[in-house]
Amino acid sequence: MLKSKILITCPKGIPPFLKQELINKNFPVLSENIAGVETEGSLDDAMLLNLHLRTGHRVLFTLKEFAARDADGLYHAVHDIAWEQHVPEDGYLCITSSVENPTIKDSRFASLKCKDAIVDRIKEKRGKRPDSGPERDHSVVHLYWKDDHGAVYLDTSGEPLSRRGYRKIPLGAPMQETLAAAVVLATGWNNAGNFINPMCGSGTLAIEAALIGLDRAPGLLRNNFGFMHLKGFNEELWSELREKARQCAKKDLSGKIIATDISPHAVEAARKNATTAGVERHIDFSVCNFSDTPLPGNSGIIIMNPEYGERMGEIQKLEATYKDIGDYLKQKCRGFSGYVFTGSPHLARKVSLKPKRTFQFFNSGIECRLLEYELYEGTRKIKKPKPDDRPFGDHAPVDAPVPGDGNV
Ligand SMILES: C[S@@+](CC[C@H](N)C(=O)[O-])C[C@H]1O[C@@H](n2cnc3c(N)ncnc32)[C@H](O)[C@@H]1O
Repeated sequence: MLKSKILITCPKGIPPFLKQELINKNFPVLSENIAGVETEGSLDDAMLLNLHLRTGHRVLFTLKEFAARDADGLYHAVHDIAWEQHVPEDGYLCITSSVENPTIKDSRFASLKCKDAIVDRIKEKRGKRPDSGPERDHSVVHLYWKDDHGAVYLDTSGEPLSRRGYRKIPLGAPMQETLAAAVVLATGWNNAGNFINPMCGSGTLAIEAALIGLDRAPGLLRNNFGFMHLKGFNEELWSELREKARQCAKKDLSGKIIATDISPHAVEAARKNATTAGVERHIDFSVCNFSDTPLPGNSGIIIMNPEYGERMGEIQKLEATYKDIGDYLKQKCRGFSGYVFTGSPHLARKVSLKPKRTFQFFNSGIECRLLEYELYEGTRKIKKPKPDDRPFGDHAPVDAPVPGDGNV
């Protein structure tokens, strides 16, 4: 089967985890950039990646790279591709794009030009145009065009893989599923011990931890992907891949996953989401203040994602919560590896513990850190930070543009 470059996109901060996932699945890493990792393989490989990857958003199969200076150049380059071999007769097409070209003011125009090239080509070959529109639940084509360099991909994911499908009950400020998976992977949790998640909100961290611990392929939770709407979709192989993934999954965890929240509504939502994800029986849920969360034994991971507030009043109120989190970690969680995920450097300092390591992530565009604390006997307090300390006291923030999508 034809092999090509496959680009897997992800949010900033996640590429190192995505890269490791690819290596674990024996895929070569051709390159890595700020928001994606490139590998290679066939469309069958793309199916496997959609099924197993936890931290990727879209698995983009490269059809063609080209040089195009303006919209006409783009039209001709895209029109040359044998779209009749990819888009089914009764197909529906969505074009997404990521465009930074000096001749184009609105990326939707580039998407439109790309769509015209595809449907014109198909009409010439078959006498009928496919339908097109913004829904990503059928065939999806992605256009990348920066300056003179363009690339066209089959988006084999369709809807981004972050939409696992288990979060039926949304709450305020939930973490994206792919980000939660990367955060769990950053803690190194692999089912070897306990995973404690006070302030669990809608349960995303605990659910992703359960899926990771049980080695359950996240793609088993979804029944629609872009590759299913391409000509030549190998349905038989897809069933085999799913069956194999089911058989490889573990039946039980060796440690405990505990998820608590002060809000009964949040715990109810988290429990329902876990049920939809098929991991409810692997997580012990309860309603309580974070500091009353039951701790089984005296080791494992304890991770909290408190609110980080936007307005001044909210931030002032949260200062006390962060201070209490620090006291709780110091006094009650000795022997655990403690983690706090926050988007506020100011509030992070209120924890008053010296992080052993920090990981940089982005949550809905906000720069965040996962702060790791080693909670041994007599953990030291940090010295008061100087006013000119950088945001989280370590490396400078990454600041690179991520072009937006322009679906048509
Ligand atoms: C930012 S949300 C967590 C979001 C979660 N990571 C998710 O993906 O849905 C913070 C949660 O902390 C909870 N919370 C706030 N104060 C708390 C406290 N003192 N004890 C326990 N939970 C608390 C809130 O109810 C809220 O659900």
